[in-house]
Amino acid sequence: KVRIKTILEQGEKLVDKNVTIQGWIRSIRDQKKFAFLVVNDGSCLSGLQIFVESTLQSYEEVKSLLTGSSVSVSGKLVHSIGKGQFYELQAEEVRILGDCDASYPLQKKRHSFEYLRRIAHLRPRTNTFGAVMRVRSMLAFATHCFFQENGFVYIHSPIITSSDCEGAGEMFRVLTEPGKSLNDARREDAKNFFGIPTFLTVSGQLSAEAYSCALRDVYTFGPAFRAEYSNTTKHLSEFWMVEPEMAFANLQDDMNNAESYVKFVIQYVLEKCKEDIDFFDRFIQNGLKSRLHKYIEKPFARISYSEAVEILQNSGNPFQFPVSWGEDLATEHERYLAEEYFDHPVFVYNYPAAIKAFYMKNNDHDSGKTVAAMDLLVPRIGELIGGSEREDRLDVLEQKMHQLGLKAENYWWYLDLRRFGSVPHAGYGLGFERLVLFVTGMENIRDVIPFPRFPGSAEF
Ligand code: 4AD
Ligand code: MG
Repeated sequence: KVRIKTILEQGEKLVDKNVTIQGWIRSIRDQKKFAFLVVNDGSCLSGLQIFVESTLQSYEEVKSLLTGSSVSVSGKLVHSIGKGQFYELQAEEVRILGDCDASYPLQKKRHSFEYLRRIAHLRPRTNTFGAVMRVRSMLAFATHCFFQENGFVYIHSPIITSSDCEGAGEMFRVLTEPGKSLNDARREDAKNFFGIPTFLTVSGQLSAEAYSCALRDVYTFGPAFRAEYSNTTKHLSEFWMVEPEMAFANLQDDMNNAESYVKFVIQYVLEKCKEDIDFFDRFIQNGLKSRLHKYIEKPFARISYSEAVEILQNSGNPFQFPVSWGEDLATEHERYLAEEYFDHPVFVYNYPAAIKAFYMKNNDHDSGKTVAAMDLLVPRIGELIGGSEREDRLDVLEQKMHQLGLKAENYWWYLDLRRFGSVPHAGYGLGFERLVLFVTGMENIRDVIPFPRFPGSAEF
């Protein structure tokens, strides 16, 4: 039994040998005396051509199979004389595992991504979604490689939490009682299982900080949940986030690490997912590959928020939202900077304190008017990363929380980190789906996660 990818990559070793492959029929051509099947098993983009002679015992049955049927085929691997493939399999036995009727929603033609979203359980059988998921998987693996090779410890931060890391109040409430069925839970007002209000986490950062203030360099990589009604192509209600946290690190260290990490994973995927990246370059976004190469070869740009505001104000670009110092940058501003002005990833740092989260460290040089925060903006996506140095001074942190109406008693353990051996530390969060968009050239964040959750959608 071999994967089709193995055949295409190491076919020479297998020529004239007997092999068995399994997969789903992509197409079938009946030429009377013989038939050609193309079978794909998801291990790579290409399918393997199967040559079936009419002398085969199950020929009539095989010939009448429709696209989408699953088969197991044994036979001899030979060099193909046909165009477009090196090898083909001369079937000696075709076993039908599961047939498929004409109502199969994936036919040979190209389907729109909107249509495919409605059949999220079957779309992984298409070329595009197969490629997206292989690249996504490789990006996840590369993420672990990068941090592990650099001595970071992987921390599994909790999903159920009682603290609001971002202080934005965009949390999904967890209501549960043990042993209740879904229906009962829906019908009844559930009592509180944990004794205090709990939510699905918006970020693993606070946990990561605790562990970083003990193990030095750590990272989390897990799901995050945001109950925000952002119906955009860049937001999900459930997404994955990579969150490194480094002790004895400042904002420069933070940006340096983020830049190395992003470059590392792009390089990794360019090497390991050649066939898939070529596919995206050809069918999804022309010039993708050369752009990715350019991004990893040149240093990322770095400008302060104040410089960014100046660039935007002098751009002469008619923005929908005006730009003024103190306002958060809108997506159109972020994209202008990354896409048009720099045409390259750019860090924007030292944001106004008033528009950023409570935990970010006040800058001394302007008496806390700005914080030591950074966002990494990239072409086509906008914000890929948000991070900062953390406020490590107990009195300043308490004062900031007080101003924002955050109750100190809810964050007592977080404040303890500043009470007992506080150290400078910094970290960031990278939106994993946005990274997948960046690397694949896909447009919509709903198309780079297996079963997307967004307002009004949690069916699959
Ligand atoms: O900027 P955010 O909100 O920062 C944090 O959560 C920090 N606690 C991270 C940290 O410092 N450890 O989110 C970080 C990143 C964003 O830059 C964006 O890429 C992604 O997470 N993100 C989303 N991705 C998809 N859908 C959403 N609704 C997202 N919200 C944030
Ligand atoms: Mg952010």
